[in-house]
Amino acid sequence: MSVALDIAALGARAQAMIEELGAISASPDHLTRFFLTPEHRRAADLVGRWMREAGLEVSEDALGTVRGHWHPAGPDAPRLLIGSHIDTVADAGKYDGAMGVVLGILALQEIVRAGLSRPYGIDVLAFGDEEGTRFPTTLSSSAACAGVFQTASLNATDAQGVTLREAILAYGNATDDIPKAAYATGGVIAYVEAHIEQGPVLEAEGEPLGVVTAIAGASRLSVTVTGEAGHAGTVPMRMRRDALPGAAEMALAVERIAKADRHGMVATVGRMHIDPGSINVIPARVTFTVDLRSGSDMSRREALERFEREAHRIADQRHLGVVISAFHEVTTVPCYRDLQLRLRNAVADLGHRAPLLPSGAGHDGQAMVNLCPVGMLFVRCKGGISHNPAEYASPEDMGLAAAALIRFIERFQLP
Ligand code: GLV
Ligand code: MN
Ligand code: MN
Ligand code: MN
Repeated sequence: MSVALDIAALGARAQAMIEELGAISASPDHLTRFFLTPEHRRAADLVGRWMREAGLEVSEDALGTVRGHWHPAGPDAPRLLIGSHIDTVADAGKYDGAMGVVLGILALQEIVRAGLSRPYGIDVLAFGDEEGTRFPTTLSSSAACAGVFQTASLNATDAQGVTLREAILAYGNATDDIPKAAYATGGVIAYVEAHIEQGPVLEAEGEPLGVVTAIAGASRLSVTVTGEAGHAGTVPMRMRRDALPGAAEMALAVERIAKADRHGMVATVGRMHIDPGSINVIPARVTFTVDLRSGSDMSRREALERFEREAHRIADQRHLGVVISAFHEVTTVPCYRDLQLRLRNAVADLGHRAPLLPSGAGHDGQAMVNLCPVGMLFVRCKGGISHNPAEYASPEDMGLAAAALIRFIERFQLP
């Protein structure tokens, strides 16, 4: 039996749901929905309601992941996981994360409505901590599902000094319940995620959908450069130990290192803080972040070493101090070949080609790979723009993606 597909209706429904979810924000004009905030709570409630309406049984774990369960073969049967995240960066687009959750729910809604039966179950997951914008740790909700949550990250603090432990309690959950979030190894067949591409490749190829080959590894560093504060009007240039030009030179060094790489490495200095931060005081201390990503773990590690050497050379030359600490690292995650093939076949059923492409952006699959094989479907994204309110995927493309997930599930037999 094949589920009847109304791609236009699926796309229109996806768009309406994305608008509704996108209206849940800490700030009315700039979509911002951080992990374990009141906005996260409201988004989780909405997603839970949609899941129930789709005919799924809903539960939530200690890290706030909303789960919609479909278990035609009973709750103990192995299961396929389909998900994405509902947290956002600050001043975000509406599609990053939200779209994958919405498409998972819509696909399951059609499957349930068609009365399909399977010897396995499916859980639709809405994670809450993919962006890593509130706490320095990231992927904690998917890590908990995968059974690799690091207890030490409970002590991580947000900008207000609230620890992750306190945030979990304030959200109404208990940290003692975190181990219960973990799926039993062997009980899960695969994790599949649909996500906007967040880059320009599919648009350039004129294809609505693509299949991901691998998710690039990433390192995040915090760099502190120390000099000496002084009067901006009295200390001669040659006698200064100004932390800012040193930090600026280090930012240029990391840019140069990434540009010289031949594996498409990308490096970003996205945050910089100057102390004391006064117009007439020589900066005594600058802290900045580095986000470095590459599809080659070896190149990424070599680049980190090169950056460390460069930063120390620059600091020595300028009589500054420098401390570099790495606070986050994920290795490159190859997507499972069999899932790539199955996703491509599902897209081919709809008359499209589904080019293969790597993901430079991070995804929950980087944590889920500790539990099971990972597969990802990318949806064309206008102008390649993401992490930006201008982010856009068309209803037509989203309808096709929902249809591809339905065909993927229909064809999916237990290995
Ligand atoms: C989050 O979207 C990331 O890829 O850093
Ligand atoms: Mn995302
Ligand atoms: Mn993102
Ligand atoms: Mn991401």
